[in-house]
Amino acid sequence: MEKLAILGGKKSINCVYGKDWPPIDDIDRSYVLASLEGENHKWGPNCVAFEKEFAAWNGNEYAITTNSGTAALHMAVAACECGVGDEIIVPAYSWSSSATCVIHHNAIPKFVDVDFYSMNIDVNKIEDAITSKTKAIIVVHLHGNPVNMDKVIEIARKYNLRVIEDACQAHGAKYKNKKVGRWGDCAAFSTNQNKCLVSGEGGLFVTDDEEIYKRALQLWSFGEIRTPMENRDFHAYALGWMYRNNDLTAAFGRAQLTKLDHYIEVQRQNAQVLIEELKDIKALILPLEEDDHYHNYYNFTCKIDMDHLGYKKNHDQVRNTIVKALQEEGAPVSMYQVFILPAMTVFRAQNAYGKGCPWSCPHQQEIKYEPERYPVAQKYCDTHFGTVWPLRAPNGEEAARAVAGAIKKVFANLDQLDFSKEWELEDYESRETLLKL
Ligand SMILES: Cc1ncc(COP(=O)(O)O)c(C=O)c1O
Repeated sequence: MEKLAILGGKKSINCVYGKDWPPIDDIDRSYVLASLEGENHKWGPNCVAFEKEFAAWNGNEYAITTNSGTAALHMAVAACECGVGDEIIVPAYSWSSSATCVIHHNAIPKFVDVDFYSMNIDVNKIEDAITSKTKAIIVVHLHGNPVNMDKVIEIARKYNLRVIEDACQAHGAKYKNKKVGRWGDCAAFSTNQNKCLVSGEGGLFVTDDEEIYKRALQLWSFGEIRTPMENRDFHAYALGWMYRNNDLTAAFGRAQLTKLDHYIEVQRQNAQVLIEELKDIKALILPLEEDDHYHNYYNFTCKIDMDHLGYKKNHDQVRNTIVKALQEEGAPVSMYQVFILPAMTVFRAQNAYGKGCPWSCPHQQEIKYEPERYPVAQKYCDTHFGTVWPLRAPNGEEAARAVAGAIKKVFANLDQLDFSKEWELEDYESRETLLKL
C-alpha cells in the first residue's frame, strides 16, 4: 500500500504537465510578425487566407473566420433561418453557448439527454423531442468524439430539419472517414487557446451551401452583404453583429493550421498510451472510440463507475474526492462542465433579454426546463473527470505515462480516502492555477 499524497505520501508527479499549449516556434513568429508589419490590423489578407486554407483542410466550400466559436454558432443558427417560434434540439450536456446561441436568435432550445458512453446527444432520443415547431438539431462532437451522424441525418431528412454541428472541440475528428463540419448544413469551430487549433481567441463558420454562407455573412458583419474586402456600401440590410476576426489572430491561426495534423496525431498517440495503461482499472470507464469514429482526443475524459465502487448517492462528492487526490499527486486533471445545461439559470429563468423573451413570445409554446428529465447527463456530469494538457504536443508518452501512474496509484488506494469530506478543487483553466503553473 502506497500512502497517497493527499495524506502526506510522496507525490506521483513532480514536474509540470500543465498548460504549455500551443508550442510556439518560428512558423508562428514569421506569420504573426509579417501581419504586424503589414498594413491591416483589422480584417485583412490573413483572414482571407485563413478562411481558404481552413476550408481546404476541412473539405468545405466556404469558411468565415470569426472572433469566437460562439459567434460562429450564432451565425449557424441565423443562417439556418431559425428564429421566433422555432425549437432547436440541443444535447443536455455541453458548453453553455451550444444552447445560448439559439436564444440569441429568439428561438428556443429543447434539450435531449446524452448517451453515457459516447457523451454525445443520445441519437435514439431525438425523435421524441421533435414537435411541429422543431427547426433544427444542434449536435456537439463533445471532447472531440464525433456524433453518429448517419442517424442524425436520417432523422433530419425524415422531419425536414436543419443540422448544425458544434465542432468547437472536434477539429479533425471524423465519422465514417469524413471530417466533422462536413455532415450538417453548417458547423462552428472554436480556435480559442484550449482548442486543437489555436489563434488565441476566435472561431470558424463552415458550410458547403452558398445561401447559408451568404446569410451567415450578414450576421457576421453589421447586416451588410458585401465583405470587408469588397467595395462596401455600409448599408445594414439585416440585423447584424460584429463577429469578424482580425489579421493578427488569423495569422496565428494560419501558422497553427500548418501543424494541426501533427498535433492531432500526438493527441491520439498519447490517448492510446493512457488507454493501454488504465484499461485494467475496473472502476474507471475510459473514453470510447466506436467503429467508424475517429476521435481527436481534444481531451481524455473518463467516468468513475459508481456501481462498481458501490456508491448509490453523492456521486459528485466521491468524484471530487478522487479528483482532489489526483491533483495532490500532481496530476493535471479536472472536470469539464459541472452543470448540465437545463440546470443553468440562463435557461431555467426563461428571461434571456428580459420580460420573459423569447419564451413569452406568442408564437412559442410553453416549455419547461426540468433538470431531472436528463438523468444520464446528470450522471455523466457527476462522475466524470479528465485531462487535457498532457495529451498535447510537445508532450509525448512520458507525460501520458506519468498521469496514468498517478491515476493507477489513487485507484489502487481508494480505501485511504475520506469520501464524506467536501473539497475545493483546482480548475486547470483558472487564472490562479495557471499562475501557479
Ligand atoms: C462545445 C463547445 N461549444 C462552443 C464553444 C464556444 O467557443 P468559444 O469559446 O470560441 O466561443 C466551446 C468552447 O469554449 C465549446 O467547447
